[in-house]
Amino acid sequence: MNSKTAQLIVDGHTYELPVIIGTTGEKAIDIKNLLKESGYITLDSGYMNTGSCESGITYLNGEKGILRYRGYNIEDLAEKCVFVEVAYLLLTGELPNPKELDQFKNDMTRYALIHEDMIHFFDHFPPNSSPMSILSTMVGSLHDFYPEMDFDEDPYGGITTATARLLSKIRTLAAFSYKKSIGHPLVYPRADLCYCGNFLNMMFNRPNIEYHVEPLLVSALNKLLILHADHEQNCSTSTVRLVGSSGVRLYPSISAGVGALWGPLHGGANVAVIRMLEAIYADNGDFDKYIKMAKDPDNPYRLTGFGHRVYKTYDPRAKIIKDVTHQILDTMQIKDPLLDIAQELEYRVSRDDYFVSRNLYPNVDFYSGIVYRAMNIPTNMFTVMFALGRLPGWISHWQEMHMDKENNKIGRPRQIYQGIVERPFVVMEDRP
Ligand code: ACO
Repeated sequence: MNSKTAQLIVDGHTYELPVIIGTTGEKAIDIKNLLKESGYITLDSGYMNTGSCESGITYLNGEKGILRYRGYNIEDLAEKCVFVEVAYLLLTGELPNPKELDQFKNDMTRYALIHEDMIHFFDHFPPNSSPMSILSTMVGSLHDFYPEMDFDEDPYGGITTATARLLSKIRTLAAFSYKKSIGHPLVYPRADLCYCGNFLNMMFNRPNIEYHVEPLLVSALNKLLILHADHEQNCSTSTVRLVGSSGVRLYPSISAGVGALWGPLHGGANVAVIRMLEAIYADNGDFDKYIKMAKDPDNPYRLTGFGHRVYKTYDPRAKIIKDVTHQILDTMQIKDPLLDIAQELEYRVSRDDYFVSRNLYPNVDFYSGIVYRAMNIPTNMFTVMFALGRLPGWISHWQEMHMDKENNKIGRPRQIYQGIVERPFVVMEDRP
């Protein structure tokens, strides 16, 4: 127990506030009781400097570019693991032994089907519906189709039935929403394929053309999903925690996370990056025009795929994805003009004082879309791919919050009211 305290002097009174130190030396001042003791709240729009919880899942150092899940460096996990192992690690705290991995993989196979009645839902979305809205709706409706408890009496490790179901079914839901959007017959999951291979097969297999699941793409997809699997208290994960804190079940909490991820400042950035690169390409590579717009303080335009709330150096995930991009495109002999545009843009940004002085480097979304394009995944599915990857992180945080009985309170920020203080109610004469 740390005995250090911080002092806050306000209105002539000194308040002693406990200091919390994390296992990597991160420091926080605990203001939980400040309101009760002093009458003051703290104000921090956008949570720029507010810790919402203590967590043992992911460590992120934005100054040094370090990202670790449960203590393991992201570089090692991306190189040496498959996605389901990393999902298991995030959920349970440990990498699975061979027996545990077998059981987990079997669960992924066992739960891959979705209730046939759910398939009718897909038929009634309007044409060109966003796959993210379909995904959010479908995940929320799992609540009614699979009403088992969120916490089994005897889960293995930390894997509950609800968790295993959701992790497995989200692939099927994602692939079915794509098939419906292009009017193709659905392809059901297979027992002989791995997690990522199954997803690719459900996406691209079709009755008239033989589809071969390419190991290179399976390996790339594993890496991409691992790199997206968790990122501590980001917008969508905080949403999952906040919604879950009201006591609602896992599925609607995750459905809300899908909604939060969708925005262009968060997971939707991977779609916006491709739109931006396409626009620069269509403009005959007029980089200066876009860089000028992004630097203009009167123009809300931004270079999507650059900048991050936490990273003030190169995002370690972006580094790995850039390598994967080259590996895939070189091996498959794909010439994507958007890769040339992306590299030239990164080069120019890295030499521009505006971006350098603000520590704006490529983030996870900058190169991921180019890999997805090489896999034939359509642009409007990119954020769905992010959601598939982020799911184990969301669930781990949701579970961690519920396990922490001492601090498990409904999330409810305060505000400083700046509106009209009070006024008399006068009935308007012509009011009906
Ligand atoms: N292009 C141009 N300028 C930028 C960019 C950008 N991509 N990002 C930040 N800036 C500038 C801001 O205008 C601001 O400049 P100022 O100090 O002169 O006002 C400064 O850099 C700081 O930016 P903030 O918006 O205050 O930083 P914040 O931490 O709130 O935002 C964010 C982070 C949302 C990621 C931002 O960098 C951004 O909009 N990036 C583009 C969208 C994007 O790529 N999002 C994906 C992030 S990764 C993820 O969520 C998975």
